[in-house]
Amino acid sequence: MMEFEVYPNPQELARAAALRMVEALGRAAEARGRASLALSGGSTPRRIYQLMADLAPADLWGRVHFFWGDDRCVPGDHPDSNFRLAKENLFDLINPAPQNVHPMPSDLRPLETAAIEYEKELVDFFGGTPEFDVVHLGLGTDGHTASLFPGSAALDEKRAWVVGLNPPSGVRPDLPRLTLTLPAINAARLVLFVVGGMEKREVVRGIRDRTPKAMELFPAARVAPAADPLWLLDADAAS
Ligand code: 6PG
Repeated sequence: MMEFEVYPNPQELARAAALRMVEALGRAAEARGRASLALSGGSTPRRIYQLMADLAPADLWGRVHFFWGDDRCVPGDHPDSNFRLAKENLFDLINPAPQNVHPMPSDLRPLETAAIEYEKELVDFFGGTPEFDVVHLGLGTDGHTASLFPGSAALDEKRAWVVGLNPPSGVRPDLPRLTLTLPAINAARLVLFVVGGMEKREVVRGIRDRTPKAMELFPAARVAPAADPLWLLDADAAS
């Protein structure tokens, strides 16, 4: 099953998402001494990350390790970089220790090598299966999440935790990506989708109603961790 919560506007959605993540990371850090978060990209996270910096108790960040659910294969200072998004909206505000930040090797080639490299980083950190405390995900108007696109062979991946791929034609930005696979996302303790905007409402409705079309076409519908994923929506996305 999936759990849905609806907030009246994008500001309140961002605040709820930031609070949820800060709380979940705090609980994980209390329980296990450290916490792990897989960050997302796109435009929705910007405000969320700024608010996380505001809302978290000062002693949290020393215990949080930052990873990425996906990134575009560009240098870390490129405008399309998801690393850069987190750097500018979160890290520049909280100054995490460098050893707590685990960026995807987005300028390593070939992509297969980069994927293997990041998988190694995950295995080293988790000691096996990546059990992220929080995986933060967005939703595309085509139903994609992280960089798992409709029709992609990456959706059938059963073994690798990370893969490299080129997005289908028409996807912007048209850049190669590294992404966590469904097995990696589904191993998380909390998967949090944060979705706003009218243009996403058809996809949200299909996923919520588990329509045959959504289940077949939308990668986000195939995210199925052991604990139900939580969907935070604004009123437009839920309409
Ligand atoms: C990426 C993302 C991607 C994103 C959705 C939603 O790197 O592109 O991780 O999966 O979350 O495309 O993006 P918006 O927030 O911009 O709608």
